[in-house]
Amino acid sequence: MSMDNERIDLTRPEFWMADPYPTLARLRESDPVHYHDTAAHPFWALTRHDDIVAVSKTPETFCSGKGIAIQGGSGEEMAEFENLVTMDDPAHKWLRALVSRGFTPGRIRTLESHVRELTTSILDEVSGRDEIDFVEDVAALLPSYVIGELLGVPRQDQHLIKVWSDGITEGGGEGDGQNEGGFAAIGHMMTYLAGMQEARRQSPTDDLVSLLMQAEIDGRRLSEQAQRGFFLLLEFAGNETTRNTIVGGLLALAEHPDQAVLLRNEPSLIGSAAEEMLRFVSPVTHFRRTATKDAELRGRTIQEGDWLVLFYGAGNRDPEVFPDPDRFDVTRYPNPHIALGGGGPHFCLGAALGRLEIRVMFEELLRRFPDIEVTGRPTRVRSNFIRGIKTMPVRLGKDHGA
Ligand code: HEM
Repeated sequence: MSMDNERIDLTRPEFWMADPYPTLARLRESDPVHYHDTAAHPFWALTRHDDIVAVSKTPETFCSGKGIAIQGGSGEEMAEFENLVTMDDPAHKWLRALVSRGFTPGRIRTLESHVRELTTSILDEVSGRDEIDFVEDVAALLPSYVIGELLGVPRQDQHLIKVWSDGITEGGGEGDGQNEGGFAAIGHMMTYLAGMQEARRQSPTDDLVSLLMQAEIDGRRLSEQAQRGFFLLLEFAGNETTRNTIVGGLLALAEHPDQAVLLRNEPSLIGSAAEEMLRFVSPVTHFRRTATKDAELRGRTIQEGDWLVLFYGAGNRDPEVFPDPDRFDVTRYPNPHIALGGGGPHFCLGAALGRLEIRVMFEELLRRFPDIEVTGRPTRVRSNFIRGIKTMPVRLGKDHGA
């Protein structure tokens, strides 16, 4: 272990606001299972693709039920709700099977035309304007509208999801835990959802709120409060992740003009381009696991109770798996990235939906606005959990039509 590695603090938001990749590469090469003791609570920092996959797929030894965050911020604010992402088997298995009914391939396919309509209406709004903030005016809107659509929130109220989301992020997303704004936003959302449940009790529809009210496994249903807790998780999990893949994806295209030309000339590359955006951006910096027993990993002795942190972006630049890993390549294949998790029981429930949103957004955006350009420096989100962009000025250019 070099002296340098001892001074690295991967829990500082500033580390993620700058370019983290050279440091992550050094760690991966010199000390891939690194004992990180420079922060409030020590943990093992995992930076190799195969180690992250192995730990994700061994939940009996490396569990999620004892927390998923490194400190402050992510996860902790969710503790009071019945929460899929911090549960272990058998409770996780039961709940995951239940809520998965809302995310079947058939249901996601049905959403595609809605996702396209929503994208079109977002682009209609900005068409004709000279310079826009791509984050606020475009990328932030789609994921919140889509979560609204999934839940069954009527179109005229879908902007509320964005308002709540902003309230929650501003309240809790800056790495210092929560403040009153965040709790107020959660309160408004819960009240609204309780109203929806009341309405669906009278007359069910085919939306997710109705579906969860009726869903039952082994004769057991989820309480309505726990259902609302799950909807809040979707709000946390589906929003900034998708938004930042879209924003980071556009920035990557702007920084690699040859790849933008390739994608514009060959729209069928959109599927592999979306995967490469996920890999390259890796908007979720980490999830944590806790050892349930003593274990060994790459020669290091892990003790029961130790924390292990999976740094997805580091695994996604592992040269053992991705040739020329720092290159953004919209034709990259195969692309076994771990931006949506390293496999195992907690693999992203919204993966198909997130992928759909990214694909449809870039299909529509690049077709309508082929001359789109990033016109200024993006500003970064201050967080150690989401590697994201807060503002990014963009000029759309001529609209070639919806
Ligand atoms: C496209 C961008 C997205 C990224 C990069 C992303 C990333 C992730 C990651 C890294 C995990 C943890 C995996 C693990 O611990 O093994 C996860 C879990 C999860 N994601 Fe996503 N996600 C995205 C979109 C979405 C969307 C759109 C939704 C839903 C609307 C969603 C819902 C969830 C849920 C519910 C979990 C917890 C699953 C469980 O614990 O069983 N995600 N996601």
